[in-house]
Amino acid sequence: MDFFQYKNNRLYAEDIAVSELVRRFGTPLYIYSRATLERHWRAFDTALGTHPHLICYAVKSNPNIAVLQTMAKLGAGFDIVSQGELERVLAAGGDAGKIVFSGVAKTAAEIERALSVGIRCFNVESSAELERINQVAATMNLRAPVSLRVNPDVDAHTHPYISTGLKENKFGIAVQEARRVYRYAAGLKHIKITGMDCHIGSQLTELQPFLDTADRLILLLEQLKADGIELEHLDLGGGLGVTYDRETPPHPAEYAAALLDKLKGYRELEIILEPGRAISANAGILVTKVEYLKSNENRHFAIVDAGMNDMIRPALYQAHMEIIEVARDLDRETRIYDVVGPICETSDFLGKGRKLAIAAGDYLAQRSAGAYGASMSSTYNSRPLTAEVMVSGETANLIRRRAPLSQLWQLESLLPESD
Ligand code: LLP
Repeated sequence: MDFFQYKNNRLYAEDIAVSELVRRFGTPLYIYSRATLERHWRAFDTALGTHPHLICYAVKSNPNIAVLQTMAKLGAGFDIVSQGELERVLAAGGDAGKIVFSGVAKTAAEIERALSVGIRCFNVESSAELERINQVAATMNLRAPVSLRVNPDVDAHTHPYISTGLKENKFGIAVQEARRVYRYAAGLKHIKITGMDCHIGSQLTELQPFLDTADRLILLLEQLKADGIELEHLDLGGGLGVTYDRETPPHPAEYAAALLDKLKGYRELEIILEPGRAISANAGILVTKVEYLKSNENRHFAIVDAGMNDMIRPALYQAHMEIIEVARDLDRETRIYDVVGPICETSDFLGKGRKLAIAAGDYLAQRSAGAYGASMSSTYNSRPLTAEVMVSGETANLIRRRAPLSQLWQLESLLPESD
């Protein structure tokens, strides 16, 4: 459920007409609904009830500092994968003590910064990383809190590019290896083992892979107990899918109930989750203007002003995302359009084969664009990054200005004049 609805055939973001936001801020435009973000985070938080837990919002899904601030105000934790994300969380007022740091390539500088601000723990992805964290912590005379990211070798049944829990993926420590690495970690002077982590993939639409993973981790947890290694938390990562089209992913409450059932005997074990998409995807839309309509023998094209540089998901994952009219004109003729952008690539489309009733100059909204939209955008074809607006009730705040064209080459330099 989100707060983008039609009222009298005009699309609204909470209590503001999208056409009004377009008038004020132009296009392409990302619009987020604060109430939706809050509702989605709370759905996870409430679902875990009184069992000790922390819902760490996956920053990569939408890292705008106003989104992070919204999360921080709810008491959220954060899942980060770079120092850039760490600094964003701090700039947004997030609590360092609620940050978990994932990612396969943490540098010594990133580790040092994370230790100095006192993050909750590192989700360690290899033995080599464990050694590096131990070394950095030694120079700071600290013990670094770590949780090992276990790769459970479970098929998440999702797009291969966003599946991460199979043994052929680069992520985590193989489940068969993990016990050995835990024992090794226990012997490292500057390491404090606090938990176990995993993340098997994104846009999962079934519970079973999560539950199979939980079974494998619980088994390992019991083995570790026998080795005298006690864990404080179990982190099951993110990955819960959303409805883009006809998917019917489990509700966070269903997921939580199934997890709590599995962890009945573990009241003391804190559950950490790292949802990104399930919180931010349906809290955002990408609004774009129809510049031209064009037809050839086989197809009708709606050529719009947002491209794969603004939203790469359809091009990269053949992702289907719903596209709707900002103002519905019920008398107008409907046609089947490929909605394509301005970029010089055939993969530059927002959607194909879409039934729309539009004319040039109209506006379209791509739904579910709040996750992995702005965060994956680029300036390809020298197109400036798009503006972002956060709506709350009748208030709209510009949370990212449209970048001026000169910013495109701001960090570049001409070669010295040669004679
Ligand atoms: N935790 C870790 C360690 C992750 O790698 C990810 C996402 C998450 C949590 C959050 O997963 P979520 O709840 O959002 O599924 N760009 C792709 C998705 C890539 C996800 C990468 N990792 C897309 O647009 O579909």
